[in-house]
Amino acid sequence: MNVLTRTWERLIAEKLEAYGKTEGQRWRPKLHIAPPVGWLNDPNGLCQYQGVYHVFYQFSPFDPKGGLKFWAHCTSRDLLHWRFEGAALAPDEAYDCHGVYSGSALVEDGQLSLYYTGNVKQTGDYDYIRTGRESNTVRAVSVDGVQFEGKRLLMSNKDYPEDLTCHVRDPKVWKQDGRYYMVQGARTAEDKGVVLLFESEDGEHWNCLHRLETKEPFGYMWECPDVFQVDGYTVLSISPQGVKADGLKYNNVYQSVTTFLDGDFREAVVREDFRELDAGFDFYAPQSFQAEDGRRIQIGWMGMPDVDAYYTNPSVEDGWQHTLTLPRELSVRDGVLCQKPVRELDDWWNFFIPFVNTYSGVLGDCFEVAASGTGGEFWLVLAGGLKLSWKEEEGIFWMSFTDQRLGAGRARRGRAVEKLTDLRIIVDVSCVEVFLNGGREVFSTRFYPDREEIGVELRASGFDGRICLHREGM
Ligand code: FRU
Repeated sequence: MNVLTRTWERLIAEKLEAYGKTEGQRWRPKLHIAPPVGWLNDPNGLCQYQGVYHVFYQFSPFDPKGGLKFWAHCTSRDLLHWRFEGAALAPDEAYDCHGVYSGSALVEDGQLSLYYTGNVKQTGDYDYIRTGRESNTVRAVSVDGVQFEGKRLLMSNKDYPEDLTCHVRDPKVWKQDGRYYMVQGARTAEDKGVVLLFESEDGEHWNCLHRLETKEPFGYMWECPDVFQVDGYTVLSISPQGVKADGLKYNNVYQSVTTFLDGDFREAVVREDFRELDAGFDFYAPQSFQAEDGRRIQIGWMGMPDVDAYYTNPSVEDGWQHTLTLPRELSVRDGVLCQKPVRELDDWWNFFIPFVNTYSGVLGDCFEVAASGTGGEFWLVLAGGLKLSWKEEEGIFWMSFTDQRLGAGRARRGRAVEKLTDLRIIVDVSCVEVFLNGGREVFSTRFYPDREEIGVELRASGFDGRICLHREGM
């Protein structure tokens, strides 16, 4: 541990201590990961190691509006309740001094490796796109899953293909058929988003094997790529920047989309039939991992970069900003990638209120509304100002804020939904996640109710279901 590491550790401890345990609780969710203080963005290093789930995330402890990036670390045994373990990786080497950027975990033979991008911005008159930025690929290793040591610089800009800008980052690593693979997101000199595929025999020495790209550009940069198998399909997940809105699609500043790769991923050409993973306001940079029981689980950042001109998160006043989504199980049904909250959530609810066609009541601040049916119309209002609605004749499911304060500037998002058969609406203090039709469509948003009791008004003839709650001592 060098003097910089020790200094960061002390400063973060002081910050946490000074911030105290009682502040900033107003909009703090119960089941979603949020930073104890400061800023959170992308989920990183997701894995299950020796039975314990590990989630790391991009963390700026000193400013709720962002800044120098560390990796914060959380652990859990049920994917719902998380223990903050501190900052696992700090910017404390010459090759990562301006940010320990996003990356992933590899679990193997009693050790946990973290791969990430060490960000360096050279001093000078640079644009930091084409010049002046180092994107270093770094690995750190842990045996106990808590202390990460022995950082090693594996690749720097000179090791990446020559026709790229300085934007190369977010290594996602996995092992397959006895070899190691890594994908990284990149921006070419021609401003085209691509994914670089590397391979390695030992996880240390890497060789760029292939480029996953579309024929025509789909945005100028692809961030946070992921390649994984679900139900016999090979999924490519990317977070592109620079995609234009197209009707109800791509309405956020940046996107997160998936497509299936045909044939061998080492040779595939990327088809352009992308699907957005989430139709809400707050979803970006998702990453997946395989749990020890075989499930493919994905977590996203329940936030978005560069949205300040459109909407905000008032928790900034309380010294912290952003959360991650709930972990979601992925599956492919009828050729569509579906997401649903991890099954641990089903076991967590232990108190149920059934309803038929309508429900009106004031609940606590953490609950689920689950409904299914064959009605032609669905209408639900949360906290008097967040409306979820669908009419069969229109064929669009809407998430609309009718109360601007509740949405802190968020207005309306929609998605074409021809038939609505089932919904799950999960409310956790300031987080709402909506899963439609077995998770074919998902909407995530933050919202800021001014009281802890959240009202639910539901009118949906032809739908019945239940409100699910957790009551202590049941
Ligand atoms: C995505 C991203 C990544 C980068 C990280 C920095 O939100 O821009 O590409 O590694 O955030 O925090």
